[in-house]
Amino acid sequence: MANPGETMVAPAQRLKLRGTQSWEQLALCAAVLVLASLWASVGRAQDRAAAYAPADIRYGAQIYAAQCSACHGETGTQIGGVDLGGGALRRAPSDVDLRNVLANGIAGTAMPPFRFDPSELTAIVAYIRNMRTFDARGAAVGDANRGRAWFEGAGGCTSCHRVNGKGPRVAPDLSDIGALRSADFLERTLRDPNGSILPMNRSVRAVTRDGKVINGRRLNEDTYSVQVIDDQEHLLSLDKANLREYTVVTTSTMPSYKDKLSAQEMADLVAYLLTLKGLR
Ligand code: HEC
Ligand code: HEC
Repeated sequence: MANPGETMVAPAQRLKLRGTQSWEQLALCAAVLVLASLWASVGRAQDRAAAYAPADIRYGAQIYAAQCSACHGETGTQIGGVDLGGGALRRAPSDVDLRNVLANGIAGTAMPPFRFDPSELTAIVAYIRNMRTFDARGAAVGDANRGRAWFEGAGGCTSCHRVNGKGPRVAPDLSDIGALRSADFLERTLRDPNGSILPMNRSVRAVTRDGKVINGRRLNEDTYSVQVIDDQEHLLSLDKANLREYTVVTTSTMPSYKDKLSAQEMADLVAYLLTLKGLR
């Protein structure tokens, strides 16, 4: 980043020294200036996400209403000299700066530090960057209680997932999923489990030398062995040297809920998942 600044200064100095100001030299100078400022604006743009997901913005709006609006006001302009939705934040030009302001507060002012978990931070940043254009009326507000009822009942999620000590272990434990994953990631998982499967959640298929087939969820793996929970919930440690076949499956056994949920039901379910923040 230091280079464009240097090249911008150098030709101008050369011009001055020689005392000649030909057309070409001025044009070159102007071109360098334009390029340098373009470069600077690219640098600034990269400090912010290219796009913020609607599910994160919606979640952030709820957090803002509960945690920030008492001081900053509904429109983010209640504190003199601070316009949260205005874009040009003195202390938070980049998303990283904004996260730091939230984590540390601003010393010597009323702005307090917050202890947000990763999904909340993602959401509040997404919301602040979109405050001006976000339309609360157009967004389906999720009802976590309705979401929970569906999760435990008709949705059938508990036939695979475990929450707070209840349920099987064949699929990832969701007890603190609402702290770990963003609203957007949760929604994408429900729409397209295959497209959003994390490497650590891939299942494995193993066939032992004597022909026994094991399908399970990988808990741990090193060069020589792999620990899995099989589909009967047995914890197994397999010696790779004794396997005839060992495949990491990149598709998910979780069904897609894309066509099974209305927008409201999806919002309810995501709202419920976001309440799962472990036993804290
Ligand atoms: C108790 C009151 C209070 C609460 C609650 C509060 N703030 Fe602040 N905030 C302030 C004050 C006062 C300032 C201005 C500090 C200063 O003088 O620079 C500020 C400044 C900021 C700034 C820096 C603005 C800039 O121009 O750089 C950001 C960003 C911010 N707040 C975000 C938030 C968010 C997001 C929340 C909710 C999670 C929040 N604040 C909650 C009082 C509060
Ligand atoms: C047939 C078993 C099955 C059912 C039913 C099922 N899931 Fe899953 N789910 C899985 C498996 C296996 C994974 C891990 C692989 C993946 O991410 O797709 C997973 C992954 C997830 C993840 C991502 C976990 C992470 O670590 O990021 C979430 C969130 C989730 N499921 C929620 C749900 C919800 C909500 C329902 C009910 C609407 C549901 N699942 C129904 C098997 C299932």
